[in-house]
Amino acid sequence: MSDEAAAVVETPVSDRPVLEVRDIEVNFAGRIGVFGAMLGKKAADAKAVAGVDLTLHEGEVLALAGESGCGKTTLARVIMGLIKPQRGSVLYLGEPIKDLRAYRRRVQMVFQDPTAALNPRQTIYEIIAEALRIHRIHEGPNGESEEQLVARALSRAGLRPPDRFYLLYPHELSGGQRQRVVIASTMVLDPQIIVADEPVSNLDASVRGEILSLLMKLREELRISLLIVTHDLGLAWTVADRVAIMYLGRIVEIGPAEEVLQRPLHPYTKALLAVVPEAGGVDRPILAGEPPDPTRIPPGCRFHVRCPEVTTGRAAAAGVEPKCTGEDLGLTELRPGHFAACHLAAMGGPAEG
Ligand SMILES: Nc1ncnc2c1ncn2[C@@H]1O[C@H](COP(=O)(O)OP(=O)(O)O)[C@@H](O)[C@H]1O
Ligand code: SF4
Ligand SMILES: [Mg+2]
Repeated sequence: MSDEAAAVVETPVSDRPVLEVRDIEVNFAGRIGVFGAMLGKKAADAKAVAGVDLTLHEGEVLALAGESGCGKTTLARVIMGLIKPQRGSVLYLGEPIKDLRAYRRRVQMVFQDPTAALNPRQTIYEIIAEALRIHRIHEGPNGESEEQLVARALSRAGLRPPDRFYLLYPHELSGGQRQRVVIASTMVLDPQIIVADEPVSNLDASVRGEILSLLMKLREELRISLLIVTHDLGLAWTVADRVAIMYLGRIVEIGPAEEVLQRPLHPYTKALLAVVPEAGGVDRPILAGEPPDPTRIPPGCRFHVRCPEVTTGRAAAAGVEPKCTGEDLGLTELRPGHFAACHLAAMGGPAEG
């Protein structure tokens, strides 16, 4: 696409990084039972995040996808300042985070379970107003009162008319409405970034689309950047500008959504896509082997014990198998803006296609 053509496309995405994750590593100390300790055993640490770099741009929706246990939530918690990583740093607008309180106002998190996120003893009004009080906000930028700010946040989150919800308690709302309240409690702080960890997986299928559309509407109207953590590639397909695929603590593929999802380079991405209906997949898992265990990371390419290219002998036929089993590797840009960590794909091997 020429620069002129790009300029007329209506997209709020810019090249300006708002959040940069640099070489993050998180190890959880191994837990071992009393008997194990008596036998002098030592539990292995879980390398939950093993060297991750990620950039989120202004107005961008970035999906972080991968199977359960691959480290997505841990990475999200590092970004929120809830976990201190053993290595690496998080930059906000190009700078390390100095003022955590100010940062936590501009970078908001939406969790998977809205019921757990809301205090059952507070009314909806109190829940939203408390978000303001925690940040010592007494009025809006244009002199708005607390009530005006609460009303606007509820309306923006699709709870209209807002005053109908003021005196209700969370248990009086549906699951979808509760997640709207959570979103309103973030919107009231006028965030720049929302990190949403599986924001619809606890909701009925019938309201998932509504909540996703709401998040998309907010990013368009307010230029919010969104990092959406999901185990569901179909969801990433629907909403994301870019997709990052995570496996055992690493990002193994990242690029524009249509590139990663329609022309995947990494065998792991292809295996995940094979069960996504949006990608013409069938409902039949093709990934063999044990679920990944971050206390026992395989040498070489960490996916090699489950990689279909290895198990079918295609990697051996291409002469790349010794590298697969012996040489660890990082991401390489194999197409413009499209990176993968695969020896075979780097050779232009059968992973293309
Ligand atoms: N607080 C913790 N203590 C020990 N291990 C943890 C802790 N939190 C997560 N883990 C482990 O780290 C790995 C990554 O977990 P998580 O980040 O929750 O993955 P995901 O969100 O992708 O499902 C898992 O193996 C999990 O068991
Ligand atoms: S490097 Fe080898 S084992 Fe790893 S994904 Fe590529 S082909 Fe499979
Ligand atoms: Mg998780």
